[in-house]
Amino acid sequence: MIDTVRWITDSGKVISKYNKDLNILPGKLRLIDQVCLPKKLTYIETTDLEEIFQCIKRLSVRGAPAIGCAAALGLAAVVQSHQVNSVKDLLTEIERVSNRLAESRPTAVNLFWALNRCVNQAKSIKSCDVNDIKEELIKEALNIVEEDIAMCAAIGENGSELLKDGDTVLTHCNAGALATADFGTALSPIYKAVENGLNIKVYSDETRPLLQGSRLTAWELQRAGVDVTTICDSMAGQVMKEGKIDIVIVGSDRVAANGDAANKIGTYSLAILAKYHNIPFYVAIPYSTIDMELSDGSMIPIELRDRKEIIKGFGKWTGPEDVKTYNPAFDVTPNELITGIITEQGILTPPFTEKIKKIFD
Ligand code: MRU
Repeated sequence: MIDTVRWITDSGKVISKYNKDLNILPGKLRLIDQVCLPKKLTYIETTDLEEIFQCIKRLSVRGAPAIGCAAALGLAAVVQSHQVNSVKDLLTEIERVSNRLAESRPTAVNLFWALNRCVNQAKSIKSCDVNDIKEELIKEALNIVEEDIAMCAAIGENGSELLKDGDTVLTHCNAGALATADFGTALSPIYKAVENGLNIKVYSDETRPLLQGSRLTAWELQRAGVDVTTICDSMAGQVMKEGKIDIVIVGSDRVAANGDAANKIGTYSLAILAKYHNIPFYVAIPYSTIDMELSDGSMIPIELRDRKEIIKGFGKWTGPEDVKTYNPAFDVTPNELITGIITEQGILTPPFTEKIKKIFD
């Protein structure tokens, strides 16, 4: 769809899945620089650890599954570009790079899931040749990307069953192609339904303070020919009251074992509004977003971001320079406000705990 995060070989081939006939080494991480959207579609290609770290931190690449894919490809890109003489040194280097990338953002569990998976795979290789391990790291990162593409498609297929001709969906932040390796999570059912010929409209919350809704969701839906209307976050209640919304679908950065779901700040308020107005509220996720180590959402770490995002967003002061601010980037929606969780394996309905556990059996 949109190649949000990919591997690019030194011969210039952009790839999303491992192909044994292709030379994947040497290569780079390539990603869309989302900070420049919607004005400009530009790409960053890099093997530099600090640059990859900053890309994730400043949201050049963002959205839980895309962060996981970028971290996996980024780890592989950095490590393959470094000269090391022994397998022992290489494994130490892999740990070092992985630990640094893991410090970039705290909430999306896909980051830690992807890095752990790559590190464990590298450690499991019984070879004395550093190049074998470097190649295996790229392969595993490409497996993660390929799986994410498949999960987006399955989420779209499953979630599209909730939509009927003429429906209007409200979404928050961006859980689309720009947040994953392909069609997205929350937006994937919409793409699928539209592809099936259904007439679907989308209301997209602007998503203060970083405007992922108006900058990214509106951009990618328009580009795909989907009817999208941007509203300010504070308008959601009124729009629901006017009877304009049939269903809310959002993504998530981390779902706890009981179904509590962390997502972009403002999601929790949206879930309460949806409950009040009797509108179904769905969360769309791949299994890589579930954190079975956390029994409930109270333990999900919430990222606190720079105060300037609130009072000097996009370069213009919108508040007194010395005003006190508080800028949590995510909130947690309790499972009792969630009508269903759309996954690649099907739609889970409450109570969630046993059904979530089954995904991992
Ligand atoms: O701060 P961001 O832009 O990374 O936040 C992204 C979200 O909150 C998304 O809704 C979530 O990661 C799901 S993406 C499929």
